[in-house]
Amino acid sequence: MKLHHVIEAQQFDVPTLLQLFAVAERMEQVAARGGITDYQNRIMATLFYEPSTRTRFSFETAMHRLGGHVISTENAAEFSSVAKGETLEDTIRILNGYADVIVIRHKEVGSAKRAAAVSRVPVINAGDGAGQHPTQALLDLYTIRKEIGAIEGLRIAMVGDLAQGRTVRSLAYLLSKFADVRLYFVAPPLLKMKEDILEHLRERHVWWTEETALDKVLPEVDVVYQTRVQKERFGDRIADYEECRGVYIINQASLRLMKEKAIIMHPLPRLEEITMEVDADPRAAYFRQAQNGLYVRMALLTMVLG
Ligand code: CP
Repeated sequence: MKLHHVIEAQQFDVPTLLQLFAVAERMEQVAARGGITDYQNRIMATLFYEPSTRTRFSFETAMHRLGGHVISTENAAEFSSVAKGETLEDTIRILNGYADVIVIRHKEVGSAKRAAAVSRVPVINAGDGAGQHPTQALLDLYTIRKEIGAIEGLRIAMVGDLAQGRTVRSLAYLLSKFADVRLYFVAPPLLKMKEDILEHLRERHVWWTEETALDKVLPEVDVVYQTRVQKERFGDRIADYEECRGVYIINQASLRLMKEKAIIMHPLPRLEEITMEVDADPRAAYFRQAQNGLYVRMALLTMVLG
């Protein structure tokens, strides 16, 4: 099955997800052997207008492990010709002449869709502002399935910055495709899950609830998906940020409330919302989750490059 642009989580159906996960499982073996050379004539451009550690490094590592090449720029907003006033569309048209696939992260919602609209080569959305982060959601779903063995029937808490968090938005779209999933949204009043996602869940008859007491939810769920309160999305609303940060923290006391087989996930980076002492608990899955990003992105690249 071939993919072209990867822009939003809704574009994936369950058979495509299962195929992607099967390829990702194979990529775990490929990466363990050091990689392949099958894509030695292919070039990936990474165009990141916002900071990244995991997404950019894992995409670039994925391309190297497939035998391909990477072209990139440090901080595209500053070091690409956008700094001289070039439009995103023109930048993409130019990269079409150089690269076989473009991975883009941008601060504006809808930027990846704009890029795809003028691109012959596949565009992969690596995060568009507070919009979506579909490849993160794919690796999140892969992690849940790998850690727990199933997706259907799970109870999943999403915690923290749900209003501005693109990862939880994309993950909610993907989870809505699986039967009997129950979603618990735990957020400060200013950061509640947005209505467009809630409406989508209603349309698909997905069970969800909004809670304010994390300790009440922890004993019920199989997955705790913690997120960072993103200071960079508050602009000059410093008082709002201070009101929201630190409200929900996963610590040793939280671990005592959780099921023995539950897992803790986080797209990372984390600040104070998961204390370091939690890292040693086998239920802390967030570093394994980040590692899975490599395999899922290798799989994605093979599916878009063909
Ligand atoms: N999860 C994620 O997108 O991390 P980075 O911002 O480091 O890419």
